[in-house]
Amino acid sequence: MVEIKKGIYWTGYIDWDLRNFHGYSTPSGSTYNAYLILDEKPTLIDTVKYYGFEQMLHRIKQIIDPAKIRYIVSNHTEMDHSGSIGELLKLCPKAEVICSPKGHEGLMRHFLSAPEKDKPSWNFKVVNNGETVSLGKRTLQFFLTPMVHWPDSMVSFCEEEKILFSNDAFGQHHASSQRFVDEAGLDIILKEAAKYYANIVMPYGPQVLKALEALGTLKLEMICPSHGLIWREKTDIQKIVSLYQKWANYESDVKAVIIYDTMWHSTEKMALKLYELLDVKGVDVKLVNLKDTHISDAMTEVMSSRVVCIGSPILNNRVLPAVGGFLTYLKGLKPKNRFGFAFGSYGWAKVGFKELEQALEEAGIKAIADAKYFQYVPAKSELDSLNETADKIKQLLDGK
Ligand code: FEO
Repeated sequence: MVEIKKGIYWTGYIDWDLRNFHGYSTPSGSTYNAYLILDEKPTLIDTVKYYGFEQMLHRIKQIIDPAKIRYIVSNHTEMDHSGSIGELLKLCPKAEVICSPKGHEGLMRHFLSAPEKDKPSWNFKVVNNGETVSLGKRTLQFFLTPMVHWPDSMVSFCEEEKILFSNDAFGQHHASSQRFVDEAGLDIILKEAAKYYANIVMPYGPQVLKALEALGTLKLEMICPSHGLIWREKTDIQKIVSLYQKWANYESDVKAVIIYDTMWHSTEKMALKLYELLDVKGVDVKLVNLKDTHISDAMTEVMSSRVVCIGSPILNNRVLPAVGGFLTYLKGLKPKNRFGFAFGSYGWAKVGFKELEQALEEAGIKAIADAKYFQYVPAKSELDSLNETADKIKQLLDGK
């Protein structure tokens, strides 16, 4: 365990081996953070995935007898945070589970299904927005943050300590023996926080803005998320809050990304030519091959790019599976205020490209130029014609 402030401890689980979090690649693992507040009513904020229970319990036992815990705050029902509540309650039967009204419904559905459903063995304390619970010397205030990123989500604020327990918000999937952002290095953690936002929070910009507005009046000295490292330096807190403002407003950088897969190198030729043309014009551009890049990394590039170009060959009248998977993901995450360009190569029928164009439209990405599809192997003149597209992208990024 680590004492993060006098009488407040990190008692979470470090998931060094995690490489995939429901389809999101996590090359540097993750953590599930639980926080124990020692007060007249000892309180645990969130728990960990079921397989991290023993590690969490070991840390708690270093501080107190778990039987003394009086409150377990469940800020969010998703099982990476609630998965150990049931096991823990067996050791602290007097504890009440504090959750939002939607959290109550969610916990019942996840953990107290029939026949116990109608007679829950857990003691719940359901809280509403702004409600407070006294722990003794300290008070927790709860703010409901629906759809950041589940309907049940809430955050807990300790005014006396000026700590926000923010659950998934401001989190990062990053396993580390360090507990604070300033120990691990701001650049590394901001990169992980951006990937986290792009892949988990992006569809909920308006709800994030609402939550930021509600929390804007709080004086924060520490933000303790439920994944990754803790924000405690004033400038780091200001940085991540301002980035959340930017991301929630769907702002992007003056940048283009070209995302593609290829079968016989024809779509690759188009992607490389477009890259070359943009690069020569001075455009900040990235090339992402879906054969080698995980869709969650491609999404992080989409979040920072104003122009998103997507290319695919046609196989069996459809786009290639890697592109199809990415388009499904893109439609769900819905980046706004982006411009797009569809391209690719085909053999004898172009019908499969409809899927690509429709997906861009459904994702809310506006076409910046007419799509370009070339048969079999693109001719030099066809590749050169991509210069018109590159000019349009350059003009858009230059604000002309
Ligand atoms: Fe980290 Fe939505 O759970």
